[in-house]
Amino acid sequence: MKQKINIAIDGYSSCGKSTIAKAVAKELNYVYIDTGAMYRAMALYALQHGFIHANGTVDTAGLEKALDLVLINFKYNFDLGFIETFLNGQNVEKEIRSLQVSNHVSKISDVKAVRVKLVKLQKRMAESGGVVMDGRDIGTVVLPNAELKFFMTADSKVRAQRRYEELKSMGVETTLEEVLNNVNSRDEYDTTRANDPLKRADDAVVIDNTHLTIEEQFQFVMSQVMKKIGSLEHIS
Ligand code: DC
Repeated sequence: MKQKINIAIDGYSSCGKSTIAKAVAKELNYVYIDTGAMYRAMALYALQHGFIHANGTVDTAGLEKALDLVLINFKYNFDLGFIETFLNGQNVEKEIRSLQVSNHVSKISDVKAVRVKLVKLQKRMAESGGVVMDGRDIGTVVLPNAELKFFMTADSKVRAQRRYEELKSMGVETTLEEVLNNVNSRDEYDTTRANDPLKRADDAVVIDNTHLTIEEQFQFVMSQVMKKIGSLEHIS
């Protein structure tokens, strides 16, 4: 029986973190946790309940008061073979990927009380190990003791093109320019925000995937995982 470790994958928007995290979790029979989906569900809730004003500012006090009413969880869809996000019992997997949510999610994720609530939940989800979690602050804040950490990056134009194709395949109407603007503004916001900004953990392995295929990234991550598990078994 191999030891179950926790794996943290952080990085910029639309870097393919979730593609690699999902594939690695599947290979290892681990649980994949998409923390971005949790912030997106929170942004959807804020939009639905009028906590984001027409001028784009957030009613932080109102949202904070409502936080106990927000229930976010994941369920595995056996037919589709992946995890879907639920907000107060409703499947919101499609809505949370919309450009409207993408355009507001960075602001929502900078609300301190939102982060406190979601980080607590994420820590609890990883308590028993065997988790592959992707996000922005996993290696630095949520799982600082994760046995293995990766930090993914890629050229922003390449990321926007990949995201544009993904949205198109999901039937979302948009333009490459709009997606590139969103990627750039989220990078700016995510790295400069006051609360838990995106930052590489000192002990994270950097993967710049601008010129790497998904298979190459997967093989690299798996080789690191096997090395880590092997070294831990050697010690124990
Ligand atoms: O990974 P994603 O693009 O779906 O994430 C959506 C937003 O949520 C992203 O702009 C920043 C925020 N986020 C965060 O602040 N912390 C995380 N651990 C994950 C996402």
